[in-house]
Amino acid sequence: MIHMPSNNKTNQGNFMKKKKSLSIINKLNKLVYNSTFVYPLVIKGGQGCYIEDVDGERYLDFTSNIASCPLGYSHPELNEIIKRYVGIGAHKIAGQDFYCEEHSQLAEKLLSISNSNSKVFFINSGAEAVENAIKIAYRRNGPLPGISCINAFHGRTLGALAFTFSKEVQKTNFPEFPTKRIKFCITNNDPEIDTIQKIVNENKISFIITELVQGEGGVNVASKKFINNLNKASRKYDIPLIIDEVQTGLGRTGKWWTYQHYDIKPNIVTIGKALQVGAVIFDKKMEPHKPGVLSSTWGGGNRIDMAIGMKTIDIISKEKLLERVNKSGDFLKKNLMELKNRHNIIIDVRGLGLMLGVEFLKKEIRDKIIYKLFKNKLLVIPSGLKTIRILPPLIITENEISKGVIIFEKILKEFKH
Ligand SMILES: Cc1ncc(COP(=O)(O)O)c(C=O)c1O
Repeated sequence: MIHMPSNNKTNQGNFMKKKKSLSIINKLNKLVYNSTFVYPLVIKGGQGCYIEDVDGERYLDFTSNIASCPLGYSHPELNEIIKRYVGIGAHKIAGQDFYCEEHSQLAEKLLSISNSNSKVFFINSGAEAVENAIKIAYRRNGPLPGISCINAFHGRTLGALAFTFSKEVQKTNFPEFPTKRIKFCITNNDPEIDTIQKIVNENKISFIITELVQGEGGVNVASKKFINNLNKASRKYDIPLIIDEVQTGLGRTGKWWTYQHYDIKPNIVTIGKALQVGAVIFDKKMEPHKPGVLSSTWGGGNRIDMAIGMKTIDIISKEKLLERVNKSGDFLKKNLMELKNRHNIIIDVRGLGLMLGVEFLKKEIRDKIIYKLFKNKLLVIPSGLKTIRILPPLIITENEISKGVIIFEKILKEFKH
């Protein structure tokens, strides 16, 4: 969490104007656990790539609500869907106990862009998608250790958390599942790139799980050779390879799935965020034999969310957003690289498509910059120890990117270096 500076008069002056926001935040502070709130933004609504807060201030959104709003805000076709459900009287049902049409429609749509010979199971969140992915693997192979990567983030439910290694605060004192940790290699010549072979040679393993671009862990892009090595180990020893696309899936990196940038065919894929519901997509041969191994009350029952998820896939196809993400991602990256060349507090710019990271010299500088960007009406989020994560809506234009970059540079200039 980035803490609000408390003793700065100018800041206080600005925030005094945010009367409604402050009263909501003060109330929340008394009522709810202070989780990972980034800055004092109380969202009212939005239009395109802009978010409006409850005090009527507009912000250019380079976060897409952590990749959950890939089409930005108030997309007319999504608004139409929401209207369609007014008066229906059963917008949310126990979707693993009773059937609804949205469930089959979303399954059909999602499988049409996934590996052939797959099936899907819907669930509420990204963490639950991971839970169910590892349950599928455990059911098949037994409760043997699973392999995951250093700096990985797979969610916060206890099963998923056991394979998350991004921050100490997320794990201390919580029980662990059997795990083996490997380095997440970002270059093909990393000395640890072959570690996986030794581990699978010497141990019985239930599954291998990894992201391809670590979102929470610092926007680190996996090396092709590293992922190929995981894939080879998975094939050779018949260990399911789970690719966690909760943050990267549905076009974020310029392809439907980030694994399509790599030469692999994962056995199990997780998705959440952009899809509006969680889902685990798996080879048919991985399907648990008995019914009831997996279930939940709301999995497959959030009818509005499923209808919006399905329409989101349609719109990404129809509006050719994958091509657009590749172009706008290149444009944004080029601009960020230029900022790096002009400001030596930036030490790296990296990422794929519209999932980009800007790494700073120090955490303190990164945190101040995020806060100042917020005050200047540009929303970004932290990642890893000292990186800013940039995840704009897939519909962002070059003009909007340029506006964001101008704000970014204005703030960078305020830092002496
Ligand atoms: C790669 C990855 N896996 C799992 C999760 C957990 O998703 P959720 O927050 O919906 O439980 C996240 C969330 O950020 C994620 O980025």
